[in-house]
Amino acid sequence: RIDTRCDLMLFGALGDLAQRKLFPALYQLERAGLLAEGSRVLAIARAEGDTDSVRRQLYDRLQQHVKPVEFDPEMAHRFLARVAYLRLDFNDPEGFYALGRWRHPTDNELIVYMATPPSLYGVIARNLRAASCCNERTRVVVEKPIGHDLESSRVINDELGEVYNENQIFRIDHYLGKETVQNLIALRFANNLFASQWDQNHISHVEITVAESVGIEGRWGYFDKAGQIRDMVQNHLLQLLCLIAMDPPADLSADSIRDEKVKVLKALRTITPDMMERYVVRGQYTAGTSGGKPVPGYLDEEGANRNSDTETFVALKAEIENWRWSGVPFYIRTGKRLPEKLSQIIIHFKPAPHYIFDPDQKHLANNKLIIRLQPDEGMSLKILTKDQGLDKGMRLRQGPLELTFSETFETERIPDAYERLLWEIMKGNQYLFVRRDEVEYAWRWVDQVIRNWKDSGEPPKRYAAGTWGPVASIAMITRDGRSWYEDV
Ligand code: BG6
Repeated sequence: RIDTRCDLMLFGALGDLAQRKLFPALYQLERAGLLAEGSRVLAIARAEGDTDSVRRQLYDRLQQHVKPVEFDPEMAHRFLARVAYLRLDFNDPEGFYALGRWRHPTDNELIVYMATPPSLYGVIARNLRAASCCNERTRVVVEKPIGHDLESSRVINDELGEVYNENQIFRIDHYLGKETVQNLIALRFANNLFASQWDQNHISHVEITVAESVGIEGRWGYFDKAGQIRDMVQNHLLQLLCLIAMDPPADLSADSIRDEKVKVLKALRTITPDMMERYVVRGQYTAGTSGGKPVPGYLDEEGANRNSDTETFVALKAEIENWRWSGVPFYIRTGKRLPEKLSQIIIHFKPAPHYIFDPDQKHLANNKLIIRLQPDEGMSLKILTKDQGLDKGMRLRQGPLELTFSETFETERIPDAYERLLWEIMKGNQYLFVRRDEVEYAWRWVDQVIRNWKDSGEPPKRYAAGTWGPVASIAMITRDGRSWYEDV
């Protein structure tokens, strides 16, 4: 059994991510009995406060962010007893000596979690080193965005690389912690049925949709500098694409998996300026409705600059230039203020080589595998059967082979991505984390699209909140004789 006892230093402990995601995830690990005896958490932030006041604050936040049925006051106190607070100016090297004192004399493995803006990663790393708060076993965890383009991501990665080796750096993409995302690996490489069908001989195209119904939720300042392509495509959507498209890894080790993902990123066809019209649509929402209520447009959100050209929606046609995927487009789309929160991948298989049924039904003849990432996690394989009844002749009917995880496996709860990621960090397993070259190849591809946008000077196309994005995104796929999948 691996020793998971650790000291977790959490920089940015009073920020939104820590309070909304990280502390609730740690609490859940406590509840599941996974926090080892002797593991401790040092919450570090600039704000005034002491351990008692921060524990009280965290207790309230846990109550707010953990589902009532999962909140147990005794468990919360047991977890919070592990937490101490340190007020620290991250730019003050002297202050970091207090971290050494907190560590002394434990030999727990050290995990440094930087839930801070990336501009602080370098200085925190250097100050930790100066205060002798790291060794070659220390694990450091960083969040996206790693930069806003290839060049700035290199600067951040270099700064981290000065202090830590690549095998110590855990770059989070929280999509990799989602149960169903991991399931892609099981689906693809444990089922020979799919393994032998997974290429351009059998698949016509792939759709990846990551739709959100929320708008910008008070994050306008951050979001406006990023936009949907940097915030979602560069990381989450390209990671999903890699897991769908990669070749079988030799084993489940971190580098075997990441080597295969990098090969996919390297093979992405560059989108050149002349391809933009057919391959990329960017949109920005205007006023509309969400959940039946009127909502403002992006430019009328709190804190908005009314001239912003930032996109809140992107649809792209990605092509992977290798033997497996030649001629198979991957249509991806993601946006804010779409009609619902829904992430799904649809694998469209090619029709049988010779069709013998009613010509009117030929459009049904493609099997589809629908992988629902959220909500309602599960999979559905659409197959054709004969319609029942004497009068139906050989009419076909499409039906699902359905696997809904919560029903089939009677899953009590699906752990949040951060629970799994923190647990993997404690075990020292990097396979769910993003390697430097993955980040960089993803930026290289996305940067080109952003450059093309800038050069063209074209504003994003408008779409009303509560709709599926600009009509141009529908035109993009219908031009190829296809349509976005709708489960009807
Ligand atoms: C984050 C983005 O990485 O992912 C957010 O910064 C987005 O803009 C979020 O809302 C979506 O994550 P999830 O897990 O809710 O699909």
